[in-house]
Amino acid sequence: MSINRRRFIQRSACISAAGAFLGSSGSFSSSSVIGRTTAWQESSPNSRNDKRPFFIATWPFGKLSCEAAVKVALESGSMLDAIEQGIWVTESDVKNASVGIGGIPNAAGQVELDACIMSGPDHNAGSVAAIQDILHPISVARLVMEKTPHVMLVGGGAKQFALQHGLESTPLLTDNQKARWEKWKQDQESKRQDESQSNKSPKIDQDNHDTIAMLGLDSKGDLFGGCSTSGWGYKIPGRVGDSPIIGSGLYVDNSVGAAGATGLGENVMRHCGSFLVVEMMRNGASPTEACERAVNRIAELDPKNLNNLDINFIALNKNGQYGAAGTSRGFRYAIADREGSEVLDAKALSEKSIGPEGGNRK
Ligand code: GLY
Repeated sequence: MSINRRRFIQRSACISAAGAFLGSSGSFSSSSVIGRTTAWQESSPNSRNDKRPFFIATWPFGKLSCEAAVKVALESGSMLDAIEQGIWVTESDVKNASVGIGGIPNAAGQVELDACIMSGPDHNAGSVAAIQDILHPISVARLVMEKTPHVMLVGGGAKQFALQHGLESTPLLTDNQKARWEKWKQDQESKRQDESQSNKSPKIDQDNHDTIAMLGLDSKGDLFGGCSTSGWGYKIPGRVGDSPIIGSGLYVDNSVGAAGATGLGENVMRHCGSFLVVEMMRNGASPTEACERAVNRIAELDPKNLNNLDINFIALNKNGQYGAAGTSRGFRYAIADREGSEVLDAKALSEKSIGPEGGNRK
């Protein structure tokens, strides 16, 4: 069977599994979903060890991905399959405006996707940036990791590589996003006619992007992670954010922990954000403390103040303790293990509020 066909069958099974997950009366039924808390909380060390595999992901939309990842890990025994196929669920959601199909395009109306994957036990990584017409950039990142001596492929070369490995070319710009892009272009044109704007680059809306970053821990204590995004809406073609950059959007150190980022990539990648979170954990911080210290360190160095940085981290340590913190109120994250799933509030480091899905405007 071709990779393409195999992946299609796996993907369909995984996405229906995610749907069944919520509706079934089994251990993953919605009745097992613990109600979300209204304030951030620190997980207790080793609190979920016996319930692994455990997954944590950015944003409430990460819940379906985490649930699918648990199911795939239990069925296949592969944490990399779980991360990849868990992220497929968000990449396939046409209503999600910041990941995969249905994502906001660049300024030229092309959907350009970034993704990466990391495997803790062998400290291996794969990454893809500014790739077009491929439904699952996370799968291309995994192919780069497993089938090449490289870590990162970009643009046309990445697409060619994906096609050579059996992935199909798929249009990713939905009618809804096309109509919104056309309106955005018209607005830019009107603004350009205003003399005061004439020498400026097109305005890019910093708030209309978000990312799925997912981390996983298995019963052996091995860590894995993945990340996928369509990036900054109406970005300059070729712009790459933090998400596919190992150490910025994602980092996994199997001896310590893993971290992932969402928010404005430019403010994460100038500081190797996820690597910084992991190093904070190495120095003894709990996951929530590590996220908080990393955000504060960035705020100290960065000319922008905390309110304008728009960065959020999730973290998971080798003992199964997890947490999250970000610059604004409203950043939430999802967790799942073999007993159920829930959405939690991250620790907010300023009073500024972001929407319930961050910048993920439908
Ligand atoms: N964090 C996603 C991006 O800025 O591209």
